[in-house]
Amino acid sequence: MTPSTQPVRASLSARDFDRIRKLAFDYCGLDISTGKEELVASRLGKIMRKLGICSYSDYFEYVVGDQSTQALVTMIDSLTTNHTAFFREQQHFDFLNQQVFPALAHRPQLDIWSAASSSGEEPYSVAIAAREFYGSASPAIRILASDISTRILETARQATYDSVRLKAIPRAVQQRYFLRGRGASSDLYRVKPEVRADVRFQRVNLTEAFGDITTVFPLILCRNVMIYFNATTQEALIHRFFQQMEPGGYLFIGHSESLNRIEHDFEYVCPAIYRKPGLLKGEAAGRSQAA
Ligand SMILES: C[S@@+](CC[C@H](N)C(=O)[O-])C[C@H]1O[C@@H](n2cnc3c(N)ncnc32)[C@H](O)[C@@H]1O
Repeated sequence: MTPSTQPVRASLSARDFDRIRKLAFDYCGLDISTGKEELVASRLGKIMRKLGICSYSDYFEYVVGDQSTQALVTMIDSLTTNHTAFFREQQHFDFLNQQVFPALAHRPQLDIWSAASSSGEEPYSVAIAAREFYGSASPAIRILASDISTRILETARQATYDSVRLKAIPRAVQQRYFLRGRGASSDLYRVKPEVRADVRFQRVNLTEAFGDITTVFPLILCRNVMIYFNATTQEALIHRFFQQMEPGGYLFIGHSESLNRIEHDFEYVCPAIYRKPGLLKGEAAGRSQAA
């Protein structure tokens, strides 16, 4: 196989589209609907060009034949989007400050799960928000940040971002939590070591059992990933989150997502925020109102 700079001219047959779709679904619940043929062809075409593979059926065989599953992971990466941003969906951060952080203030330790954390902006934003809220009286912050993509987790671990990605962060906050690069890197900012230490990264496929995650969380963020799953996969995932959450714990989902189509035991709090019935340990009754 020789890499080529030419666009892939092969067309994606209905059979290959179905095979690729099934593979993505079986592996990670990715629900590629009919009508997405062009998108799939173009995204996979880019990989095929790099590999020097000329037909989609050869590419399919290459992916299923790769015992390391790296080819499959690369395929999934190209079919999903990793789009994210610091302090994305500000309403969630307002709710953290008004409801969640005060309710957890007495704890020695704050356990939070950012499931589908992409390149790290989400978990680092939560860590920064907690540090800003608690100041010197901060509980130990322990954020589990997970994603299916090992490539994006590596980017997240590096914690280095172009200055344009920090736009939503006030200058004073940037100075408290980021280090600016020097010379040729002066446009790059790295999250300070103490904030990086608040976050640990782990590969988790949300369509499988959570495996070795034993923590029961008062807060889980699962934002902008369930759009890729069908209702059955979403329902199973939401059920697993319920099990992995303290009574009174909060679940944040993306504002373009909802749990309306599925059966679940969470209480609706306000758009994109749900709660496991009950109160958090030590939380005064009456605190559980929407912000
Ligand atoms: C659009 S990003 C959302 C990032 C962040 N939560 C936010 O809202 O800004 C979606 C992420 O979900 C990840 N993803 C897709 N399928 C997944 C799965 N089955 N398990 C875990 N992560 C998955 C992708 O790799 C991607 O990084």
